[in-house]
Amino acid sequence: MCTPRHNEEIVSETSAPLPIPEATSFLSLLIASDEESVRELVRSEATRAGLRVKAAPGASQALSALERLARAIALDRENRLLREQLGSRPGFGILVGVSPRMQQVYHLIEKVGRSLTPVLILGETGTGKELVARSIHFHGPRKHGPFVPVDCTGLVSTLVESELFGYVKGAFTGASQPKRGLIEAASGGTLFLDEIGELPMEMQAKLLRVLQEREVRPVGATSTIPVDVRVVAATNRDLQKEVDQGRFRQDLFYRLSVVPIRMPPLRERKSDIPLIVNHFLERYAVDGRPSPVFSEDAMRHMVSYDWPGNVRELENAISRALALNSGPLLHVGDLPTNLQSPAPARLPLDDEHITLAELERRAIFRALQKTRGDKLAAARLLGIGKTTLYRKLKEYEDGNSDHEPEAETEISTE
Ligand SMILES: Nc1ncnc2c1ncn2[C@@H]1O[C@H](COP(=O)(O)OP(=O)(O)OP(=O)(O)O)[C@@H](O)[C@H]1O
Ligand SMILES: [Mg+2]
Repeated sequence: MCTPRHNEEIVSETSAPLPIPEATSFLSLLIASDEESVRELVRSEATRAGLRVKAAPGASQALSALERLARAIALDRENRLLREQLGSRPGFGILVGVSPRMQQVYHLIEKVGRSLTPVLILGETGTGKELVARSIHFHGPRKHGPFVPVDCTGLVSTLVESELFGYVKGAFTGASQPKRGLIEAASGGTLFLDEIGELPMEMQAKLLRVLQEREVRPVGATSTIPVDVRVVAATNRDLQKEVDQGRFRQDLFYRLSVVPIRMPPLRERKSDIPLIVNHFLERYAVDGRPSPVFSEDAMRHMVSYDWPGNVRELENAISRALALNSGPLLHVGDLPTNLQSPAPARLPLDDEHITLAELERRAIFRALQKTRGDKLAAARLLGIGKTTLYRKLKEYEDGNSDHEPEAETEISTE
């Protein structure tokens, strides 16, 4: 290789790597050419790459330029590899699964992503409604705008209005500063109204006005603020039934459900189970170790199980199995007990060895299955309070399903 003569400098203005074709042609020319053409090349290529050349480079500068090029090449390779991996993940972006039912969902996401039409995502608990909402946002023209999830279950009823609409200074005792509401915060992006069926009636009317007028009036304000939000809502309730029973406004239902997307339960797309299992095995594997695999028998048990808690229940089963067994092969015994029996979806009241906690867990999931994921209806069916049900589900989510049920919890399966 020839060495440039002058001891002058290159100043970096950007750390952006050179695109690969430029990087390689630059490198090969640098190696093959005479001094003069090297200087010329360094000047022109470095300028194109965002480097300011104050003068032709000296030896050490040329070396550091070469180092940067080597880094650029390595980075480009790494990026290409990542892109390939992402592209080869069996599914659609963050969603894993290739079953025909999921293909229909992906098709709809692509279609609605391009528009600003309101979307209502329906489906049982744990089917991936929130992932779909995020997918819609990231496939649309607003992907650089905010994605604001609002859990309508978690909104304290007295604070719903100020949370959603914001308030002006002095609107109520303690409002010493004005506060932007969640709807305004989503302006330019997507507002994701999760568990929309839980929104109190009076808030439903106010939300309808936002959708119609595209403006919000913060609590205590005399004027309105224009908002530009794309609304995606989700529910595991049968909203049409809620409308029929007078618990959900019909006009709001029509507004929100311009495009409904129905998430299929996992038991209706069993071919996706092995893919999702492997996805979670990789996600939860300990860093630096190859991800373990399930024995064929264990995989068969997982495929034959009905998964009333859907993908979330599957995810929990896998993280539990990985916590119990650090070896390379996971067995049926590493799965939760309800998956180990041959007919796992049934409630075996005649099984003497089942724990009370397990019986409770099955009763809860069975009720959710019966009510097609409607938590309030399931709580009614079980004869327990809504809060108790939410707490139990949270415990299962956190992996505490083996705990004994608390004394106040009463279970009735019918
Ligand atoms: N197709 C999928 N691919 C990969 N992960 C998934 C998929 N579907 C769901 N998950 C994962 O399962 C879990 C539950 O998904 P999500 O929260 O979107 O469900 P949900 O339908 O909103 O549930 P809920 O009604 O209980 O709120 C999450 O950890 C999510 O990442
Ligand atoms: Mg959700």
